[in-house]
Amino acid sequence: MDPMSPDPGRPPTQESLALLGSLAGGLAHEIKNPLSTMTITLGLLREDLESGRGDGEKALRRVKVLEREVARLEDILAGFLQYAGRHRLEPRPTDLNAVVAEVLDFVTPLAQQKRVEVRHHLSPDVPHLLLDRDRVKQALLNLVLNAQEAMAGRGELLVQTSVRGGAVRVDVTDTGPGIPPEALPRIWEAYWSSKRTGTGLGLPIARRIVEEHGGVIQVFTEVGKGTRFTLWFPVPVGEGAGAPEGAPAAAAGAEARA
Ligand SMILES: Nc1ncnc2c1ncn2[C@@H]1O[C@H](COP(=O)(O)OP(=O)(O)O)[C@@H](O)[C@H]1O
Ligand SMILES: [Mg+2]
Repeated sequence: MDPMSPDPGRPPTQESLALLGSLAGGLAHEIKNPLSTMTITLGLLREDLESGRGDGEKALRRVKVLEREVARLEDILAGFLQYAGRHRLEPRPTDLNAVVAEVLDFVTPLAQQKRVEVRHHLSPDVPHLLLDRDRVKQALLNLVLNAQEAMAGRGELLVQTSVRGGAVRVDVTDTGPGIPPEALPRIWEAYWSSKRTGTGLGLPIARRIVEEHGGVIQVFTEVGKGTRFTLWFPVPVGEGAGAPEGAPAAAAGAEARA
């Protein structure tokens, strides 16, 4: 469900109100720190100016702090809009394997630095799909970056594509630490992160993008072994589509053990 665009004909449900509430809470929490830093810095700058004791160098330092915090607020807004903003999808017939290959080309140098081995297995049978290329690239990038971050030091990242019944499947598998059971229900929440500097938007954005394409995203994880995110994209009618055998009918977020 999209918390930001409720069906205008219907009153909001308890669930959509709860979602909106937690999204607003997360956003408020994010902007609190930069705002209070800005308030304090502006106060100091004002005192310097009023007392006539401030020198140019000191003032410049304070202005730089303000600039940094404004940039942070802009980042927070950009992330929020990516997650909750209205997007007009621009789907075009797209070679999903090529999109995967681009994402891997982009992250492989970083992975090598972190001593993460990147492997892929792309099925030649994957038909062209109706995709918004940039959005799907963003979703895959979010998953691949998470996998790398989980494995920093060493590990293996495997990205596979395959065709199952009437759907195309993408698996992003890592040999990282897995997701603890108590964290698993929270990973799709906007702004929830286990990382010190995480945005907590990577997975919610990825999920939104997959669902916008009529697809489904699932996670399979085992502590100590690794994690796999599986994406299903429907094949357009006329491309040999049938019932997506093996593809889950339920909405995203199904959770299971690998
Ligand atoms: N591949 C993975 N292995 C282990 N944990 C993961 C993985 N992907 C996501 N997570 C967990 O899900 C959380 C949310 O991910 P995400 O929404 O991308 O936010 P962020 O990466 O900013 O923390 C992460 O903080 C992490 O705890
Ligand atoms: Mg992330």
